Amino acid sequence: MSKQQNTLMGWIDDRLPVTQTYEKHMSKYYAPKNFNFWYFFGVLSMMMLANQILTGVWLTMNFVPSAEGAFASVEYIMRDVEWGWLIRYLHSTGATFFFIAVYLHMMRAVLYGSYQKPRELIWIFGMLIYLALMAEAFMGYVLPWGQMSYWGAQVIISLFSVIPFGIGDALTEWIRGDFLISGATLNRFFALHVVALPLVIVGLVVVHLLALHEVGSNNPDGVDIKKLKDENGKPLDGIPFHPYYTVHDLVGIVVFLMIFCTVLFFFPEGNGFALEYANFEPANGLKTPAHIAPVWYFGSFYAILRAVPDKLLGVIAMGAAIAILFVLPWLDRSPVKSWRYKGWVSKIFIVVFGFNFVLLTWLGTQPATATLTSIAQVASVIYFSFFIGMPFYTRMEKTKPVPERVTGGH
Ligand code: HEM
Repeated sequence: MSKQQNTLMGWIDDRLPVTQTYEKHMSKYYAPKNFNFWYFFGVLSMMMLANQILTGVWLTMNFVPSAEGAFASVEYIMRDVEWGWLIRYLHSTGATFFFIAVYLHMMRAVLYGSYQKPRELIWIFGMLIYLALMAEAFMGYVLPWGQMSYWGAQVIISLFSVIPFGIGDALTEWIRGDFLISGATLNRFFALHVVALPLVIVGLVVVHLLALHEVGSNNPDGVDIKKLKDENGKPLDGIPFHPYYTVHDLVGIVVFLMIFCTVLFFFPEGNGFALEYANFEPANGLKTPAHIAPVWYFGSFYAILRAVPDKLLGVIAMGAAIAILFVLPWLDRSPVKSWRYKGWVSKIFIVVFGFNFVLLTWLGTQPATATLTSIAQVASVIYFSFFIGMPFYTRMEKTKPVPERVTGGH
C-alpha cells in the first residue's frame, strides 16, 4: 500500500506507478553534473520529433495523397488554409533542424565515447532511429509531388535495381507498386510517412531512453559517476535530472528556437537547402531536371555513392558507410571513453572526421563535376579510414589518465 493512500495521487499510485516512474526517470535520475553544450541535442531532437508529429497531423488534415491532388493541396495549404504556411514551414524547415540536432547529438557520442560499453544498445537503438528517420524524411519529401520529389524518388528507388539475378528489378517494382513512380507510390509513401514510421520512431525513442536510464548517462569526461556514492547511495558527481537539467535544457531550447525561428520566418527554404527550388514545379515524368540532388541531410551518403564510378559498387559503398556506424562500439578499443583522454591520433581523426562529414554533405548537394568527384573520392577514403583504422590507433596510442571525479560543472 502507498504511504499517501489518502490522497488522490496515492490512490492512483496503488494502481499505476506514476510517482515511482516520475522519480525513477526525473527527480531521482542522477545525471553527471558536468553536462556541456553537446548534451542539449538529445532533448532538442525530442522537441523536434514532437514538432514534426504535431505539424504533420495538421498538414494531413488538408493534404490530398494522390498524384492529381498532392501538389495543388500543398499550394492550397500555403495560400488558403489559415496559418497553413506556418504549419507547412514548421514541418519542412523543421525537418532540417531535426537533422541538425540529430547529427550534433551523434557527434557528441563520438566525442565522448558514449557508444562504448555499457552503452552499446543505446547507440544501436540510436542508429535504428537514424535509419527510420532517413526513410521517414525521404518519403515525406516525395509527398508534395514536385519535380525533386518525383526525380529524387526515381533515383533512390532505382538504386535497388542494382541487385543482380532479377531480384533488383522485382524489388523496385514492388516498392513503387507500379512500373514507374506513380500515384500508387505516393499513396503507400503517405501511409508509411504518416502512420507506420512515426510509430516505429516513437517506439525506438522510448527504448533508447529506457536503455539510457538503465546504465546512466555518460559525460564529457567519460567518468563513471556510479563508482563514487555518498552515504545515501547518491552519486557524488550526480544531480537530479529534475529540476537541474529540466531548467538547464530550457536555456538550450530557447536559444535553439530563436535560431530555428529566424530561419523559419526569414529564409524558410534555407536558400534551397531545406526546400529545393525545383520542387516548386509540379512533378513531370517527361522532364528530367538538369541537376537532381538530395536534401542536404542525405548529402554525405549520396556523395559516397557518386564517388564510386560503378553503380553496384557505389551502392555497396553507400550501404557500408551507414552499416559501419552500427559496429562503432566494437571498433573503438580505447581504454578511455572521452576524446579528452585519448591520444593525439584519435583527437586528430575525430576533428578531421567531423569536417570531412560536413564536406561530404555539401559535395552530395552539388553537381558532380570532375574536380568535385575527385574531392569526394578522397573524402570517402577519409570517412572509411576513420572507422577501419580505429581498432588499431585506439589500441596503440598513448592515453592520458582519467580523473576520479568529473571536471567542471560546479
Ligand atoms: C529522434 C531522435 C533521437 C532522440 C529524440 C534522442 C534522444 C536522446 C536523449 C533525450 C538522450 C539523453 C540526453 C542526451 O544525452 O543528450 C539521448 C542519449 C543518447 N543518444 Fe539519442 N536520441 C535520438 C537519436 C540518436 C541517434 C541517431 C544516436 C546515434 C546513432 C543516438 C545516440 C545516443 C547516445 C549514445 C546517448 C547517450 C549519451 C551519453 O550518455 O553521453 N541518439 N538520446
